[in-house]
Amino acid sequence: MIEIRDLSKTYNHFSDKVKILNNISLSIDKGQWCTIIGPSGTGKSTFLNCVAGLLQPDDGEIIYEGVNIYSLKDKVKSEYRRFNIGFIFQDFKLLPHYSVLDNVALPLIYDEPKKPLYTKAKSLLEMVGIKEQIFNRLPEALSGGEKQRIAIARALIANPKVLICDEPTGNLDINNRNIILDLLSEFKNSGKTIIMVTHDEEVANRGDIIYKLSNGILEERMKKNDAFSLESNN
Ligand SMILES: Nc1ncnc2c1ncn2[C@@H]1O[C@H](COP(=O)(O)OP(=O)(O)O)[C@@H](O)[C@H]1O
Ligand SMILES: [Mg+2]
Repeated sequence: MIEIRDLSKTYNHFSDKVKILNNISLSIDKGQWCTIIGPSGTGKSTFLNCVAGLLQPDDGEIIYEGVNIYSLKDKVKSEYRRFNIGFIFQDFKLLPHYSVLDNVALPLIYDEPKKPLYTKAKSLLEMVGIKEQIFNRLPEALSGGEKQRIAIARALIANPKVLICDEPTGNLDINNRNIILDLLSEFKNSGKTIIMVTHDEEVANRGDIIYKLSNGILEERMKKNDAFSLESNN
């Protein structure tokens, strides 16, 4: 589904060059839930942005079902992203002057008739546990957890094949976290692919495969319950 080849990214801080991603290669199968953990500042968001087509790497290729995303012209690339890749930003990026409901519907506002689009937006908001009373509020009047759930609904509006999530449960209480994790499990069970960054071990363990990012490199890490079952086998 997704082929990441020799991905490298360096940031320049004045005369300082810092290599954040160092020649990362990775294949992610269709229907796989892949989680990435690692300390803050190691480049997890940078990695997700490169993979999502939002941040041009210095080197390397990102290939979705045979489509090399950085070889596409900007307009084609954003179209591709809009219909195939849902992205949940760490800082949500809700549009401040639009209501909750508009924020969820906006990605498809020029593509779909308004009535069914808003019906879909409402049902997604309900799925992530957002009550109708706040559909017309502006983002400034929302809690972090509400914003996060709205960002998740927005990422699902185009029914993408791939969902890329940057700490999607970072602002949620356990109850809401579990609602979102169950929703993601459902998404995965319908054959969709998930790439997720998290700090939370329990969230990481819901993935099929866990990678740790450190020093610019991704290494596969054992799942915690695998480690326990190995121990109990001894
Ligand atoms: N646009 C940028 N320009 C320069 N440095 C950046 C930029 N974005 C992030 N960084 C730096 O790159 C490092 C990795 O950032 P990030 O990918 O956000 O890490 P993480 O998501 O793992 O916390 C950090 O040290 C951060 O300060
Ligand atoms: Mg980050």
